[in-house]
Order: sequence, then structure tokens, then C-alpha cells
Amino acid sequence: MCGIVGYTGQRQAIEVAVEGLGRLEYRGYDSAGIALVGPGGLVVEKRAGKLANLRSALLSRPAPPSTVGIGHTRWATHGAPTDRNAHPHADCHGRIAVIHNGIIENFAVLRSELEDKGHRIVSETDTEVVAHLLEEFAAGGLAEAMRRVCLRLEGAFTLLAVSVDEPEVVVGARRNSPLVVGRGDGENFLGSDVAAFIAYTREAVELGQDQVVELRPSKITVFDFQGAPAETRDYHIGWDASAAEKDGYDHFMLKEIAEQPRAVADTLLGRVGQDGLLVLDEMRLSDQELRDIDKIILVACGTSYHAGLIAKYAIEHWAQLPCEVEVASEFRYRDPILTRDTLVVVISQSGETMDTLMAVRHARGQRSRVLAVCNVNGSTISRESDAVLYTHAGPEVAVASTKAFLTQLVACYLVALYLAQVRGTKFGDEITQIVDRLAEMPSKVSEVLSTVEPVRALARSLADERCVLFLGRHVGFPVALEGALKLKELAYMHAEGFAAGELKHGPIALIDKGLPVVVVVPSLAGQRVIHDKIVSNIQEIRARGARTLVIAEEGDDVVERYADTLIHIPAVPTLLQPLVATVPLQVFACELATAKGHDVDQPRNLAKSVTVE
Ligand code: F6R
Repeated sequence: MCGIVGYTGQRQAIEVAVEGLGRLEYRGYDSAGIALVGPGGLVVEKRAGKLANLRSALLSRPAPPSTVGIGHTRWATHGAPTDRNAHPHADCHGRIAVIHNGIIENFAVLRSELEDKGHRIVSETDTEVVAHLLEEFAAGGLAEAMRRVCLRLEGAFTLLAVSVDEPEVVVGARRNSPLVVGRGDGENFLGSDVAAFIAYTREAVELGQDQVVELRPSKITVFDFQGAPAETRDYHIGWDASAAEKDGYDHFMLKEIAEQPRAVADTLLGRVGQDGLLVLDEMRLSDQELRDIDKIILVACGTSYHAGLIAKYAIEHWAQLPCEVEVASEFRYRDPILTRDTLVVVISQSGETMDTLMAVRHARGQRSRVLAVCNVNGSTISRESDAVLYTHAGPEVAVASTKAFLTQLVACYLVALYLAQVRGTKFGDEITQIVDRLAEMPSKVSEVLSTVEPVRALARSLADERCVLFLGRHVGFPVALEGALKLKELAYMHAEGFAAGELKHGPIALIDKGLPVVVVVPSLAGQRVIHDKIVSNIQEIRARGARTLVIAEEGDDVVERYADTLIHIPAVPTLLQPLVATVPLQVFACELATAKGHDVDQPRNLAKSVTVE
């Protein structure tokens, strides 16, 4: 949530900031703004709405030259998305400017304290108090002032500040919110993620929790909130700016859907040994630790939660371990039974989702071990977990998750199979057979992609519908949930996913003449009884007038006569079917949203990385 960029060096800071904001806009698009330290003092320009509004303001009123600046795209928490509430915020004398991601929980107390001292606070945000507090502490220099301010703040924050008194310096601070340094040659960068500066450098420095960073063109100084020098970790970013560009696609989402075969292949890469068995030493959990596990709890949000629901089927089936799945925002507010032998698997594309991060801390606080499935190297969740299995989806820019989801599934299958291998619930040749089938999945996903044209036509024909239901059984149930979530977030339509067996317990009352119902049919090769049960469910809804849009594997001629529209997917083993069955649903939602004229990459009210609870 909220995109943040900072720069000091020789380039024009405005160009770096606006370029970075363009790459970060997926993090929030309620407003955008920049602050530059120029020869004539501080220049702040900010506009409500998307970055385009800021760009046109900058065109009509060009900023003076400056090589130090900060930029922000906002996902509003406190205060409506107006020009006034847009970041940056300045102190009383317009000498210090601040941008912020997160929530300052004690801002009301701080605000009245500052107002009592005569500060005039003009916005409704929780951020502006920081600019005024920095002004109070300014005598000791900007970085020291930031350190002292952070000690007064409660909540989660990434803060960047510039001051006319130190025209080469950008200061940053972080607690529970992401911030990364980009190391350049005679120039340095700050970003809420590496996309902010990927066009200029691929060398990054990971910052820890509760740290302040002072950036000068040739120097990066990091210390903790107590003022002690802090250790940092340098790393190389494994992708370049072109990976975060549309490459001729109309939307990032379309590009990312198309990238799925490669993303799945990359996530499998290097994880299978010569003998066909899995090698996951990178997870940093010993075989003995894995053998001692007596329960798994999968914790995640949104689409990643759906990956967790699917993982449960695989873990229970292959590794024969009891498994629970929980949305992260609920997890720590009940009393989950966690012991040293519970493995908590958190799944997060961004590695920054606050609800999931809090679940990590809660689980570790109860002495459970935490394994993170993450897509972002060095993210907070991956650093704070005991073990990490990275997905290799590459940067996901569209707000709606697609390729990250498929790679999360692959990672979860790998974890499930590895547990089976270590715990001996599957024999070597059984593991090898499943691994071989997994290895076929990139080409199966490609097959789906080459046959989705009818799905597009179907989606366009449904653009005037108000509601779509999704049904599935077994692993098809979470796929139905994911199909419904994609449609909600992109097409702003009422969409619900149900376990098909639950239909008769209430939801069947929703079925009305012509209501489109997407049904995900399990593979024929799996348990035949599940397949037959869903065929009965299709007949039940059809008898009540539903328009049935059926996703079934090639060769399933049983289901054919009950489908108003039939979408074929390749035949794959039941547990792996979500990898192919989800793809048409992604395309369906994307096309329907386009037909309705919505912004596919930046749906309303959403942000890519949800760093507030
Ligand atoms: C939906 C979507 C969200 C995320 C959720 C968790 O398309 O992208 O539901 O899956 O916000 O995000 P991560 O995986 O970054 O923790």
C-alpha cells in the first residue's frame, strides 16, 4: 500500500521520482505527489487521483532543477483522497517534506500536542504530524530528528523526508512497513519495493525492522531507533526493468497471465535432483524437524489464501498430516493451538501483507516454526520466518494476482511432496511420478492459454449480467472461490464461490432463470464419485433455469450434455487441476472487466500490497 520513492544523486530527481511512481502506482492510486529540494527551497506538487493528474500538473508548471527528491502514490487510510490529503506533507515553514506508508495509530494525541504548541495542521491525514515533529527536533539534523520522531510513533510506517537544510540528503525510516535501498554509483535510491529504482540499479540493500537510513549521493548510513549502527544485507535483483513493462500487452494482467507457463517452470527449476526426488534444502528446516511436525496451519489472505486451501488437499493426501487453513486477519485473534511441532505455512506474494506478517509473529511467539512461501526476495515476511520457499513468478504488477497464484500452488505442491518424501508417506517412485506430472504443467498451462478465445467471447457476452456464481468440489472449490474473487475485484460484480455440495443447504435459492453459473468439474481420473456428484449438481441448477458454464477436462463427454457452454482444459491429475482450471477464470474476469470499461490493472479501492491491518 502506498508507493514510495526517494532519490539523491546527479540526475533530475523529478524524472527518477515520476518514473519510480509509474512503476509503483499499483500500490495505491488515490493520489500522487513529489517534493524536491531545489535552489529556491522546497517544491511540493501533489494531486488527487492517478499519477496522470500529477504528470499534467508538472507539465503545466515545470519544477526547477533538483537532484534530491521524494515521491508518493497513496492508498488512502486517514482522510479522503483529495489534493490536500495527498503526500508529501510539509512542516509549518515549508522546509521539511514527508511521505508515509502505513498508519500512525497515535496521531490524534500527537496532533493535539503539536497544535497546543502552535503548529497549524492542515490535512486530515495521520502523516502530517510527522513533518511537524521533525520540525520540532530539527536542530540535531534530519536523520537524528527522524530517529527521535520514530520513538514517538505507534503503528506501522515507512517514512521518507527531505529538508532544505540538508539539500543532498534523503532520510528514511521503517517499522512494519517495507523500504529498500537501491545502491547506485554516485547516486542512491529508496523505494517501497525495488520496482521504484529498477530502471537505474539492480543492487539493493535490505533494511531491517526499526531502522533509519540516511542517504547521500555516495553514502548510505543505517542505524536503529536507539541510534546504534545497524547491519544490512546487500543483494542483487534477479530481474530487470523490462520484466516490469507491458511488452505490447494492453494490460499487465494479460501479460502476467501469459507469463504463467514460464513462472510455473521457473518455480520448479532446481528443485528436483538427478534421482527425481525433491531437493528443498533452501527451506532451512532439517529432516528431523519436518518429521517432528504433527500439524500444519496454512495462513494467508485473498488469493494466497485460496492457494492455501488447495495446499491442504495436497498435504493431507500426500503427507498425511492434519492441516488447517485460516485467513491471516482472523488467525491471531482467536486462540489457535500452536506448539513447537506445529508448522505454520504463510503464503504471501508480496511478503509484506500486514495481516500475514502479524500471523508470522504470533506463531513464532508461540514457538511454532514458520515457513513462508513468498515471491519477493528480502521481504519482511521472508526475513522474519524460520524458513522460506521462494516462488519465481517475477514481478507481479497488476493488482489482481495471477502468475503469483499459480507459482504459490507449485510451491505448496513441492512442500507437500517434500513432507511426504521426508516422512516416508510416499515412496521414491511415487514422488518421481508426481514430480514428472508437475514438470508437464508449464506446457499444460500453455495449452489452456492457446484455447481461451471462447472464454473471452463468453465474458464479453456476459458484460450486462449483475451476478455470477462459481461452483466446485474438492480442489475445484477453492478454484471457484478464486474465480469469484477475480470477478469481484476486476468487474465489480456480485460473484460468489460455493462448494457445490453446499448448494442445497441454502445458496440454491439464488438460482434464477438465466443466472450464469460457472462449474469447475473435477478430473475423471480422480475419484469418480466426486465427478458424478458435480454432474448431479449441474443438473439440479439447470433444472432451475441456471445458464451453466462448465469447465471440464478434454474427453469428459459425461458432462457435455449439461453444459450451456463448455470450456475444455487439459486432463491432468486431480490435485494439479487448479493449475489449469484457474487460468480460464482469470481470462474470464479480465475480459469481462475490459468489456465493462474498467481499469484492469488498477481496480477501484484496491492496492497491490496491503501493509495495514
Ligand atoms: C487478489 C489479490 C489479493 C492478494 C492478497 C494477499 O487478486 O491479489 O487477494 O492475494 O492481498 O497478498 P499477498 O499474497 O501479497 O500477501
